[in-house]
Amino acid sequence: MFVCFFFFFFFFVFAASILPVMQILFHPDVLSFSTGTTRIRHDSNQMKVSLSIFLSFSLTWIHTQTSERPNCYECDEDHFCNCSAKNLHRVPIVPANVLSLDVSFNEIESITQKDLTVYTELRTLKLQNNKLSMIHNTAFNSQSKLEELDLSFNKLENISSLWFSKLQSLKHLNILGNQYTTLGSVALFQFADNPALRTLKFGNPLIKDVKRNMLGKIRQLDELTFVCRNLTSYENGSFQTAHPIRAVSVSLQELFQDDPELVSKILRDVSHPETSLTIRDVSLETREPIQAFKEVRKGCTRRLTIQNVSTTDEGVTHFLEVLDGSPMSYIGLEDIHLRGRGWWQRAQWSHYENLHTTFIRNLEIQGFFTFSSMIQLAFLLKRLNNISVINGTVFVIPCNTTYFLRKVEYLDLSQNLLSDITMQESLCNGHCIMRNLNTLNVSHNSLKSLHLMSRLVTCLHRLTSLDVSHNNFLKMPQICNWPASLRFMNLSATKLHRITPCLPLSLTVLDLSQNYLTEFHHHLPNLMELWLTGNRFISLPEGGRFPSLRILLIQSNTLNVFNKSDLMAFQSLQFLEAGQNNFVCSCDFVEFFKGHIDQLITLRDGHRSYVCDSPFTLRGRTVDNAQLSVFECHMILSVSILCSVIVLVLITIGVTCYKLHVLWYLQMTMAWLKAKGKPAVHREDAVLRYDAFVSYSQHDAEWVEEILVPELESAEPPVALCLHMRDFLPGRWIVDNIIESIESSYRTLFVLSENFVTSEWCRYELNFSHFRIMDEHNDSAVLILLEPIAKETIPKRFCKLRKIMNSRTYLEWPQDEERREEFWHNLRAVLKREDD
Ligand SMILES: *[C@@H]1O[C@H](CO)[C@@H](O)[C@H](O)[C@H]1NC(C)=O
Ligand SMILES: *[C@@H]1O[C@H](CO)[C@@H](O)[C@H](O)[C@H]1NC(C)=O
Ligand SMILES: *[C@@H]1O[C@H](CO)[C@@H](O)[C@H](O)[C@H]1NC(C)=O
Ligand SMILES: *[C@@H]1O[C@H](CO)[C@@H](O)[C@H](O)[C@H]1NC(C)=O
Ligand SMILES: *[C@@H]1O[C@H](CO)[C@@H](O)[C@H](O)[C@H]1NC(C)=O
Ligand SMILES: *[C@@H]1O[C@H](CO)[C@@H](O)[C@H](O)[C@H]1NC(C)=O
Ligand SMILES: *[C@@H]1O[C@H](CO)[C@@H](O)[C@H](O)[C@H]1NC(C)=O
Ligand SMILES: *[C@@H]1O[C@H](CO)[C@@H](O)[C@H](O)[C@H]1NC(C)=O
Ligand SMILES: *[C@@H]1O[C@H](CO)[C@@H](O)[C@H](O)[C@H]1NC(C)=O
Ligand SMILES: *[C@@H]1O[C@H](CO)[C@@H](O)[C@H](O)[C@H]1NC(C)=O
Ligand SMILES: *[C@@H]1O[C@H](CO)[C@@H](O)[C@H](O)[C@H]1NC(C)=O
Repeated sequence: MFVCFFFFFFFFVFAASILPVMQILFHPDVLSFSTGTTRIRHDSNQMKVSLSIFLSFSLTWIHTQTSERPNCYECDEDHFCNCSAKNLHRVPIVPANVLSLDVSFNEIESITQKDLTVYTELRTLKLQNNKLSMIHNTAFNSQSKLEELDLSFNKLENISSLWFSKLQSLKHLNILGNQYTTLGSVALFQFADNPALRTLKFGNPLIKDVKRNMLGKIRQLDELTFVCRNLTSYENGSFQTAHPIRAVSVSLQELFQDDPELVSKILRDVSHPETSLTIRDVSLETREPIQAFKEVRKGCTRRLTIQNVSTTDEGVTHFLEVLDGSPMSYIGLEDIHLRGRGWWQRAQWSHYENLHTTFIRNLEIQGFFTFSSMIQLAFLLKRLNNISVINGTVFVIPCNTTYFLRKVEYLDLSQNLLSDITMQESLCNGHCIMRNLNTLNVSHNSLKSLHLMSRLVTCLHRLTSLDVSHNNFLKMPQICNWPASLRFMNLSATKLHRITPCLPLSLTVLDLSQNYLTEFHHHLPNLMELWLTGNRFISLPEGGRFPSLRILLIQSNTLNVFNKSDLMAFQSLQFLEAGQNNFVCSCDFVEFFKGHIDQLITLRDGHRSYVCDSPFTLRGRTVDNAQLSVFECHMILSVSILCSVIVLVLITIGVTCYKLHVLWYLQMTMAWLKAKGKPAVHREDAVLRYDAFVSYSQHDAEWVEEILVPELESAEPPVALCLHMRDFLPGRWIVDNIIESIESSYRTLFVLSENFVTSEWCRYELNFSHFRIMDEHNDSAVLILLEPIAKETIPKRFCKLRKIMNSRTYLEWPQDEERREEFWHNLRAVLKREDD
């Protein structure tokens, strides 16, 4: 039992002393040092502060040891270090295994020979929007794996081909917007045998001339972007490579007005049937600048996009005339500012036999309400089968214009101003004019009735895809009439609260994301892809209702858990995206997620998006990193084991206590303490009922009862003795009895024998704890030794007894019978009261 106590005691002491240290070590403030920050929080806790100081000292030391370059440890698991916008003046030190480094938007002025040498694995390096004016010729020599380099918007005056001499893998290079004024004196990639370059972006408002060498050695480019404003010379053939470039974007700005000849030279080089050409930042309001487009027609360009253009009715008409007879099949217009009313009939005679797609986005028409009928554009519209007018303030297509759209297969009118009424007009009240229509996109409009929408498209027998997302339906009607051909439907962000049988059974893809749905109980036998992202689902929908479902997206809901049987219910499910939910990381869920989920399905959004929301201790951890203790996972078992152990320990303690009379000892001690606290009774005042209280151990009971008592009590006058065996009041607490007996006795006799004294005194002392009281009534104790006891034989630990024997005379019980009379005589004399 004492072992027991010691163990507990030490455990508590240990725990109490270790706890503050643990708290300090694992305190978030202190942990943050390991990530490189050097905040010191002034805290009363001295230890914490000194620990902090120590850590920051060591950090400073490491810092000064390496170099003056700043550190940047903002790297993720994919070895991407985002050191953007950190006010850095030099290329920072990052982990050597970095794959992707972003140091854009800083104050870096130069790149030295050594800045990048250790980063040999680098694939992407972004240095745009710094103040670079100097790059050492060999700065990039160890980046043989670099694929993307962005040096745009710095202050480079010269672009050196030496920089690129070792960049064998470089695919994407951006050097837009620096201060160089010429390019192409030597080929950019003169040192590479077979440059891998696919994308090149260059040019700035200052560039004066471009020379033929420019793209020397580059065999095939996918994308070329060129920006200039004040170009004065362009060498024929500068933008030509062995194979036509797939996509070219040129921003020539005022050059169209200032030097149409130069523009023609450039456009001649980039116009090709295989090249998709984009011309940006241009004003096409008068005839002169538009002449340059002749080169586009001559080059047989098939895809032309014009971006950021301002134009007029006259400009458009002339443009159509200039391009007359071109084999153009696609024309795109983005960010257009049109001043006009759509009166382009003068170009009616023009021929666009191949034109089938127009893509218009972000159209701004001054006074767009005057642009109402479009009937005059019939000569263009009737050829088209693919029309997109996105964000173009379209509020209606009059029904008799719709008649000219009979060939249309693809119609995208998203981000416009269509309402239920104008939609009804545009689709001729359900009279299915656009019989070939297979895709209709009217997302981001102001439609309110899904029922009307279904009625208007009922007879479009080729409609497979309908996007009505971002409208305000609010409710789904019970019954709808959809064409049987419908496969794809997008109802995302339409403020729906409930699903009804309105949904067509033919669907294979259904997007219901960003609504307020909580449940989904409808059977969709053909559905292969279901989007429920951003709703309020608490559990996965019942898999049995979607026998063909292959892909389920249910991120950002309020899912708590899902288990094997939930997933197994989907017979065909292959891909799941369910991250960003409020997962309850129970043992079952964590175990299932870590161990078995990958065998069932592919989590397309990656394990990292699955984060615990509860229990509190795991909040914010990914499920993969959630560690649950055995105790938490087998709660019932552990609690029962713990309880049994406690019960067992209690029983053991109980039995031990019983065996060792611990309880009794404790009670005794208590009583003794109580007795000690009692005020001393003055002997003179007390009624002395007895002449002597006899204190003896069981050991010597025989002698006391058979010899001492008869002798003294039958003496003349009789001595009144108090024996605890005989005279104690039954039912009272023994110590109280003893104390009272001593107080009402004239003397106290202690009867002792050697054997007893040397071995069992301890117990006796406790037993008859009145020795302390004896100290107070100093004179009353009388010791009787039944046999001679040598003081030396008494063990040292019985110091009390030694003291008593030293301080008092004692009577020895003579073995010799003749001397016993003398003994009795002495004893009687001692017991004789003085006042008698
Ligand atoms: C990098 O950090 C900047 C600013 O801290 C932020 O604007 C940018 O989005 C980040 N880039 C990536 C790819 O996370
Ligand atoms: C750029 O090149 C020109 C002429 O080749 C030279 O005069 C100038 O010093 C160079 N500038 C830098 C910053 O190297
Ligand atoms: C372009 O040239 C014109 C005159 O030719 C000049 O006024 C203008 O400042 C130049 N622009 C730039 C950005 O150099
Ligand atoms: C560039 O080509 C045009 C037409 O092909 C030609 O008239 C002109 O002389 C050429 N210029 C040079 C410098 O070769
Ligand atoms: C659009 O083009 C004009 C010149 O026509 C130019 O000043 C402006 O910066 C361009 N806007 C954008 C967003 O590129
Ligand atoms: C729509 O077009 C206008 C001007 O044409 C533009 O300012 C706006 O940013 C565009 N909106 C979107 C969402 O692209
Ligand atoms: C129609 O054009 C759009 C935009 O260029 C394109 O995304 C779509 O695939 C085209 N549709 C058809 C049927 O050609
Ligand atoms: C188009 O329809 C409107 C009424 O719907 C009618 O007034 C107009 O004459 C029609 N125009 C043509 C060209 O049919
Ligand atoms: C419909 O238009 C929206 C916005 O322009 C676009 O996000 C969506 O992808 C389009 N839908 C289809 C099916 O092309
Ligand atoms: C549905 O439309 C939204 C917004 O217009 C778009 O983000 C989403 O990708 C579309 N869904 C599908 C499956 O194309
Ligand atoms: C799986 O979870 C569902 C509720 O989502 C529950 O009804 C079912 O009993 C669970 N199955 C197992 C094997 O735990």
